[in-house]
Amino acid sequence: MDKILIQGGAVLRGRVTVSGAKNAALPAMAASLLTDEPLRLRNLPSVRDIQTTGRLLHEMGCRVGLQNLQTGHGCELVAASPISCVAPYERVKTMRSSVLVLGPLLARFGRARVSLPGGCAIGARPIDLHIKGLKKLGASLTIEHGYVEAEAPRLIGEKVVFDRITVTGTENLMMAACLAKGETVLHNAAREPEVTDLANLLRSMGARIEGDGSSTIRIQGRPELGGADHTIIPDRIEAGTFMVAGAITGGAVELLNCRPEHLTAVIEKLEESGIAIERSGPDACRVTAPRRLQARDVTTMEYPGFATDMQAQYMALMTQAHGPSIVTETIFESRFMHASELVRMGADVRIEGNRAVISGRRDLTGAKVLASDLRASASLILAGLVASGETLVHRVYHLDRGYEAIEKKLKSLGARIQRIAD
Ligand code: EPZ
Repeated sequence: MDKILIQGGAVLRGRVTVSGAKNAALPAMAASLLTDEPLRLRNLPSVRDIQTTGRLLHEMGCRVGLQNLQTGHGCELVAASPISCVAPYERVKTMRSSVLVLGPLLARFGRARVSLPGGCAIGARPIDLHIKGLKKLGASLTIEHGYVEAEAPRLIGEKVVFDRITVTGTENLMMAACLAKGETVLHNAAREPEVTDLANLLRSMGARIEGDGSSTIRIQGRPELGGADHTIIPDRIEAGTFMVAGAITGGAVELLNCRPEHLTAVIEKLEESGIAIERSGPDACRVTAPRRLQARDVTTMEYPGFATDMQAQYMALMTQAHGPSIVTETIFESRFMHASELVRMGADVRIEGNRAVISGRRDLTGAKVLASDLRASASLILAGLVASGETLVHRVYHLDRGYEAIEKKLKSLGARIQRIAD
C-alpha cells in the first residue's frame, strides 16, 4: 500500500487546477443506466472511485469508454440492453455510492439486486431513506442476504418526504422519478451543487425537473430519456482543501477551475479566521494566508451550510490558529478519526461527543500517521505540510479515492512531498 512522505515547513505559492467533482461524477455515471443512448461525461476526476464505478457499470453490461475526451478526463457510457441489474457485494463494499444504481435500474428495467453498502469509518451510513422513498414510488424492496432485492413493474410518481436530508438519497429518487408515471415531488431534498449538476445532466437527457438546489424538487416522469454530453462541475471539496493548504502554510495560492459560489459557508469561515479569498477570474480565486490565524468555531450542516467533507481539513487548520475553537459535526456520528492522529503530531484536540475542542495553536511535529477515510487523509497531509520534520501517511488509498494526484499538485505549489509506492 502506497504511503506519502512530507517534509514540513514549505510555504505554498503558485496556482493549481481543481479537478472535476467526484461526488457529481458518480451519480452522473449511474444516470447512464436510464437510457440506451450514449452518455458522454467530461471533466471527470481521475480517481479510484470513478474507475470503480466504471468497472461496476462494465460488469453490468454497459459499454464504458474511459478516454480523454477533448477537454480533460472523460468517458462515454452506453447502457444498451442486456444489462445485468445486479451490483455485487464485492464491488459495493469497496464503494458505497454504488447504491446510486438502484434508482436508475428500477426506473428503466423494473428490477435491481444491490448489495447493502455497510458502514464505513465515518458512520453506519444506512440507506433506509433511499428504500423508503422508492417504496413510496411503488417499488417493492426487501433485504435478503445482505442485498436489496427490488422490483417495480412501473414506478408511479408520488410525494416523497425525506425524514432527514440525504444527498445520494435525493439523487437516487430524482433519477428513479425521471421515468416514473406522473409527477414526483421530493420534500426536504438535499441542495448540494452536485444534486443540481445531476439535475442539469438529467434535463439534457430530456428529463423534466425543477426546484433542484431548493429543498423541494418536482419531477415530471417521461417515457424515456436520451443520451447527452455533460461537463462535470469542479470539486468544491478539493478546492476547499487547497484553500486550507495555502493558508496553513502561510502562503498564497490561486485555484483554477474553481466555483467559489459552491463554497460560500466554507469561504465565510476561512475569511473570519483572517484568510483573504478573492475572485481572480470567472472560475478562479486567490487565497492568501494571514499573518495571524484566528480561531473560529464551526458547525457542519447540510448545504448551503459548512460542508462536513471540509470538517477534517478545517480541524487541521484550527490546530494552528490563535485561541480555542470548537468543531461540531452534525452529519456523521464518528467523523473525528483524524483527531487522534493530529494529537500524535502535537495538536491539542479533545473530543466531547460530536464536538472537538481544539485549544489553539500548537507547533506540530512530523510523525507516522494512519489515514482512516478520504477527508481524514487530507487533514493529515495538511498537518504534515506545517509540521516540523517528516510525516509519513499510511493507507493513502483512502486519499486516492477522491483526490486526483494530490501530491503532484501540492509539489507544484512548493510542498516537499512524495509518494512511496509499496
Ligand atoms: C454524500 O454521502 C457524499 N458522498 C459524502 O461525501 C458526504 O459526506 C455526504 O453526502 C454528506 O454531504 C457522495 O455524494 C458520493 P447522506 P451520502 O445520505 O449521500 C444519514 C466524501 O468524503 N442517512 O447525505 O451517503 C447518514 O447516515 C463523502 O466525498 C440515513 O440515516 O450522505 C448521514 O448521517 C463522504 N439514511 C446523513 O443522513 C439514509 O437512507 C447524511 O447522509 C441516508 C442517509
